[in-house]
Amino acid sequence: MTPREIKLNKTVLLGITGGIAAYKMCELIRMYKKNGLNVKVIATPNAFNFVTELTLSTLSDNPVYSDNFDIKEYKPEHISLADDGDILVIAPASANTISKIADGICDNLLTSITCAFNKPIIIAPAMNTNMWNNKFVQSNLKKLKSNGYDILKPESGFLACGTEGQGRLCSLDKILDKTLEILDHSQPLKDKKITITAGGTIEKIDPVRYISNFSSGKMGTALADNAYMMGAKVELISTFEIERPYKVTKVQSAQDMLEAVLKSKENSDCIIMSAAVADYRAENYAEQKLKKTSEDKMTLTLVKNPDILKTISENKGDTKIVGFCAESENLLKNAKIKIKNKGCDYLVANDISRKDIGFSSDENEVYILSEKETKHLKKTSKNKIAKQILEYVFCE
Ligand code: CTP
Repeated sequence: MTPREIKLNKTVLLGITGGIAAYKMCELIRMYKKNGLNVKVIATPNAFNFVTELTLSTLSDNPVYSDNFDIKEYKPEHISLADDGDILVIAPASANTISKIADGICDNLLTSITCAFNKPIIIAPAMNTNMWNNKFVQSNLKKLKSNGYDILKPESGFLACGTEGQGRLCSLDKILDKTLEILDHSQPLKDKKITITAGGTIEKIDPVRYISNFSSGKMGTALADNAYMMGAKVELISTFEIERPYKVTKVQSAQDMLEAVLKSKENSDCIIMSAAVADYRAENYAEQKLKKTSEDKMTLTLVKNPDILKTISENKGDTKIVGFCAESENLLKNAKIKIKNKGCDYLVANDISRKDIGFSSDENEVYILSEKETKHLKKTSKNKIAKQILEYVFCE
């Protein structure tokens, strides 16, 4: 991989635990430095059984941190280092350290920093195959993953312990690429507060029935994850449960969503309405389950829900408002009418008649409409589309 021309001016905290792959970190430090990154190594006491402090400090051009009580600055080290770093990369991550982190244990400098660190964390495990397959290690990794940690799975091959199987540290290029990908994200939206809605609203009819739609919430979640990684303060207003390192407000109906959005709007720089809001709800909610009658037909009277996008666009002030537009025909024609009717600044239009993109798919292809132009974003993962939308709205 060719080194970047620009200096990222970012600090990687590289956590090294006691495993044979620790020696590979000498090369990873060199790769980080070549790519314009400042590296500070935090080693567990066992890491020094595999690689020396002198080698690590010479390559990183920084002191190596290991002892909780070796205070070099006015703040306790686990706090000052956690503040300094833009990302924490733990490689190789042993089963022991993974499990301690997942339980919030702080028994050495690395586990303490991890506990105090509120920016992106990458974990690159390396261990014996049986340890990797151990159900407790796996469930701890799951726990970390569901809390937003990036886990770079180990690869299969010959292991230092003489066996063959999964457990070998993933390639250093993979660790470098992931680090750069996350750091590239983390700059532009610092100091911005972004509110994003996701999922399909649920409009209850009676205690067992409701009206909803097929929205998976994937696009909204991808937008929120990317905004967070780009440094924004994020609130995701979602119709489903999801654990994230940023604020998630769970709502059910369009009316709930309107209230949550209006509350969040007060201090938001941008609101992105990617939720599929039901246009109508049952006129009367039945407290008791509706019973089948002898009639062949039944009539349910629906009343209009508030139009959240239109409501917030009427009074937007300095807040950028981004709407979404799901169409099954005449995509651009309808989108152009919709952006005018709603009064939002941007409208992201997608064609829900296509099976390969849209609702439950992992990919999307969209047009972004604004007053000045219509921009096409070609088909790619929802994650990449999310990043491009945020870059377009904030950086162009
Ligand atoms: N929207 C909203 N409140 C509603 C309905 C939609 O805020 N009651 C928002 C959606 O979140 C989306 C945009 O409006 O950002 C467009 O949604 P869409 O379903 O495409 O359009 P509708 O306004 O519902 O119009 P139609 O269903 O007739 O296409």
